[in-house]
Amino acid sequence: MRELVDKLEENKVLSKEEYILLIKNRDNEISEYLFERARAVQQKYYGKKVFVRGLIEFTNYCRNDCLYCGIRRSNRNAQRYRLTKEDILNCCREGYELGFRTFVLQGGEDPYFTDERLADIVSSIKEDYPDCALTLSVGEKEHESYQMLFDAGADRYLLRHETADDAHYRRLHPPELSPERRKKCLYDLKAIGYQVGCGFMVGSPYQTAENLADDLGFIKELQPHMVGIGPFIAQRDTPFRDMKNGTLEQTLIMLSLVRLTLPYVLLPSTTALGTIDPTGREKGILAGANVVMPNLSPVSVRKKYLLYDNKICTGDESAQCRSCLQMRMKGIGYETVVSRGDCVSPEPDAQN
Ligand code: 5AD
Ligand code: FES
Repeated sequence: MRELVDKLEENKVLSKEEYILLIKNRDNEISEYLFERARAVQQKYYGKKVFVRGLIEFTNYCRNDCLYCGIRRSNRNAQRYRLTKEDILNCCREGYELGFRTFVLQGGEDPYFTDERLADIVSSIKEDYPDCALTLSVGEKEHESYQMLFDAGADRYLLRHETADDAHYRRLHPPELSPERRKKCLYDLKAIGYQVGCGFMVGSPYQTAENLADDLGFIKELQPHMVGIGPFIAQRDTPFRDMKNGTLEQTLIMLSLVRLTLPYVLLPSTTALGTIDPTGREKGILAGANVVMPNLSPVSVRKKYLLYDNKICTGDESAQCRSCLQMRMKGIGYETVVSRGDCVSPEPDAQN
């Protein structure tokens, strides 16, 4: 098993079967070795520095009905909200003062936010904060819409592929969503020139080790700048309410395998990981992640952006996620930095 980890670290291609062996591994010693090597690669490219992104969850209206997601349109219990442009700019101002140099605008697929409205918000943020990177995470759109938002100044785009296996994708989504379209969106975004992030949930319903190996294969092929990974966590108002959650162990293994597969990648230790384990985000960094995304949304709306149950950072005490995470990172010997936090390789393919 160690040889497989070494082979990955040497940037050699693993077969699907070899990936599956590593994914299924439950030997603690091997896991520790995997985390140690992932950390070595993370530190080689980024040192003991962790990038921070200010996450602004600006709308929880969504026209989609993904079976796992708490803000799916069929959820009548969700209290819907939208931030105004002014609210969003206020979040950015506060965030800038706290040292954020990347803002992530994340929301459901909300038809109220037309291309024109979003482009206007994007250009206003870029005008006020030209030294900041702006990331969008607002779902599937036509090529021309992505182009318009890019022209308005958006730098990065997060769109998790959710699962690379088409049959699995169809079991997680309603029939009107297609795996082909999702993948096309990711390639469109890349061709336009965005720094692109894909990603998936670990332990989502019906997921197999083979699916996870395919996710790594897809990531190797797409060569994204960022990969978002967190455990699946059941949400009480969704069809998957009784499904088992993803585990800490499996999520950490996947984080380290992504780090070894794409050495330079920007890899967040996610809020979902912090939700299934009190020090999950610290453990994620120690398994090779190098980004944290503290919540910058107004505290008044945080309890409403509930993709999954028991989400952390939604109470009054969490007004200052920035300093909380800074302390947490310091506690494990890492330092959060004030910078845009760009990918070390402007063209990921150049690394190979
Ligand atoms: N558990 C964990 N992650 C979830 N997401 C959506 N619902 C859940 C859930 N129940 C993730 C999806 C989506 C991202 C914004 O949040 O992967 O792409
Ligand atoms: Fe939000 Fe700690 S990061 S309260």
